[in-house]
Amino acid sequence: MRVPLLVNRGMASKIAQTTRKAFEIFSVESVTKDKLQELVQLTAQLTARDINLNLEQVRRERVTRAPVSYMEIFVNKALTVCVFVLWDDTKMPMHNHPDMHGILKVLHGTVRVQSYTEAQLNNNSGERNVVPENCKKASWLWNRDRTLGGDGKEEYVLAKKHEAIFLNAGENEAPAILYPIDGNIHEIQAVDGPAAFLDILAPSYEARFSY
Ligand SMILES: [Fe+2]
Repeated sequence: MRVPLLVNRGMASKIAQTTRKAFEIFSVESVTKDKLQELVQLTAQLTARDINLNLEQVRRERVTRAPVSYMEIFVNKALTVCVFVLWDDTKMPMHNHPDMHGILKVLHGTVRVQSYTEAQLNNNSGERNVVPENCKKASWLWNRDRTLGGDGKEEYVLAKKHEAIFLNAGENEAPAILYPIDGNIHEIQAVDGPAAFLDILAPSYEARFSY
C-alpha cells in the first residue's frame, strides 16, 4: 500500500539534514567509509517524530489491509528515502537490492533483520544452480525466482548466512547497513507488533529505469 508523502518540500531539521548528506554521498562515483559513517550517525538519531510519523493515523487512513505500507519521503536518481510499515508481525520476504547501498533505521517497534551475502563461486560454467556438495550444509539457498516473482524457473543462489540482528526505535539506536554485495540479501520481520523503518537506498530504482 502506498500512502502520500510524510514530509513536505520545506522539510527541515534532522530528516532534511540526513537526506542532504545521503545525496552528497551517493551522488558521486565512489562511496567512502568515512562518509558512509557520517550518514549512519545522522540516521541513528532519527525518530518517528522527525518525520511526523504517527502509526495510529497511518493505520486509520490505510485503504487496504495490505500487510505492508510504503511512504516516500524523497526520490531522485541518486537515492530513495522512504518508510515501510510492517503491520503486526509481518515479515518482508527475502529480497535483495543488487549493487545498492541500504541504510535501515527503525522508527517504531522492533525488527529482526536476517541478511545473507551471495557466495562468489569459481564456477566457469556460470551455472547458478550448481552448488558444491560441501556448501550445502553450512549455507542457505535462496530461491530467487520464488521471492521476487519471475517466469517460474527456479534459480538458487548460494549465500552465506549472517547472524540475525534486532533493531529498535530510539534516538541513537544504530541502523543496519547493507552493502552492494555484503549482506545485500535480507528479510525483515516485525517483532511483537507493528514496526516502521526508514530505508535509504542508493542508487534509486528510478536511476535503473531511466535512459
Ligand atoms: Fe530491502
